[in-house]
Amino acid sequence: MGRETWVAGLDIGSTKTCCVVACVDEAGDTAVAGVGVAVNTGVRRGAVVDIELTAASIREAVGRASSQAGIAVSALHVGVTGEHIVGQNSRGVTAIVDHDQDITEEDRLRALRQARVIVVPPDRTILHALPRGYVVDGHEGVRHPVGMSGARLEVEAHIVTAGQTFLANIRKCVERAGYYCADMFLEPIAAGDAALADGDLTQGVCLVDIGGEVTNVAVFDELGIYYTSVLPLGGRHVTADIAQLLRVSAEEAERLKVSHGGAMPAAVAEDELVGVHQIGRAEARPFRRRALCQIMEARVREIFDLVQDEMVKCGADVRAAGGIVLIGGTAAMPGIRECAAAQTGLPVRLGGPVGVSGLSDAVAGSACCTALGLALRAASAAHMASAPTGMFAVLVEWWRRFRSVFRPHSGGGR
Ligand SMILES: Nc1ncnc2c1ncn2[C@@H]1O[C@H](COP(=O)(O)OP(=O)(O)OP(=O)(O)O)[C@@H](O)[C@H]1O
Ligand SMILES: [Mg+2]
Repeated sequence: MGRETWVAGLDIGSTKTCCVVACVDEAGDTAVAGVGVAVNTGVRRGAVVDIELTAASIREAVGRASSQAGIAVSALHVGVTGEHIVGQNSRGVTAIVDHDQDITEEDRLRALRQARVIVVPPDRTILHALPRGYVVDGHEGVRHPVGMSGARLEVEAHIVTAGQTFLANIRKCVERAGYYCADMFLEPIAAGDAALADGDLTQGVCLVDIGGEVTNVAVFDELGIYYTSVLPLGGRHVTADIAQLLRVSAEEAERLKVSHGGAMPAAVAEDELVGVHQIGRAEARPFRRRALCQIMEARVREIFDLVQDEMVKCGADVRAAGGIVLIGGTAAMPGIRECAAAQTGLPVRLGGPVGVSGLSDAVAGSACCTALGLALRAASAAHMASAPTGMFAVLVEWWRRFRSVFRPHSGGGR
């Protein structure tokens, strides 16, 4: 039995907390071993509003995932989102002191540090500086500059800043729940790891995660993430519209939305009726299902109108040939793909986890993509950290190949 590392990704959403526990083997293959979901009422629009409620939800979700995996979890890789998140691209440049020498990791980090030199207000902090690509002596498109010869190294990086107190409160919830917050990562970037295939990145794609109260927009190209934005709209707004216009409780509106709703009213027969339990009435009243879907369609169109504005802002409406990939709980709404395509005029597909083994039904849908992506990020970091280097790496690889000849393949992911 080879050496295994266990990791756990945690997505603290505005409606639910989701934890994915995964196992990464010595070859770097990752398999999902446990998934736990719990209702969360302690977060509004991605920001913590009640530490105790959020901590209780984390405890429940992580408890479920760890007992399914049969492993005790202590450290969590936690997702971050919300309106306080700001993404921007920045360039850093450094001279390579000795011409004859190779570019070193130190040079690369120095260039990246330069890219981090942006104006950050005192209440904000840099969450990530993600290198997108390098330029060596004016030559663009370099992916791995370390080891190359050059006199000048430039890096283009995507810098994500976040509100310090928002991050501190998330950390507090995790610790209050009894876990260690090993890392925090921007949710849409992590979700991209889980839901996008290499081909998506080559074409350029806009990943849209429509959750309960926020919609994360993230644009990727072949170099990785280049635009991030968080819109304060989600499935709860659809529910609120139904509740207001049909004069029903939030619970009844949610039931109508999930059980009978859709974003394509034209596909619903005009005479199809659903029973609606209005506030103050004992009997259910018949209501035209098409009208219910019209209410939903209006809000969904508004969301995609705003998504398109974001795409136009960063040039993704023409640059992202792959169009839109939809994830998040609201992506389960019937007809949302067609509605998004009609509103934006772009190709739209529903996203789901790609290239990961051991998926249970719970994580196979798009609502758990973010927690899965966080676990995958953690798995890949753990694998990199434990990867042997130099001659030892060659010997280990040789041993792995030799052994695999005598052992049946155990399956595995990315
Ligand atoms: N079949 C469905 N049809 C329509 N909406 C659905 C369906 N299933 C789930 N939803 C909606 O998905 C939303 C929750 O999505 P998700 O779990 O991604 O949110 P979250 O991560 O908790 O919140 P956020 O990302 O906004 O912080 C809810 O508004 C829920 O009503
Ligand atoms: Mg979410």
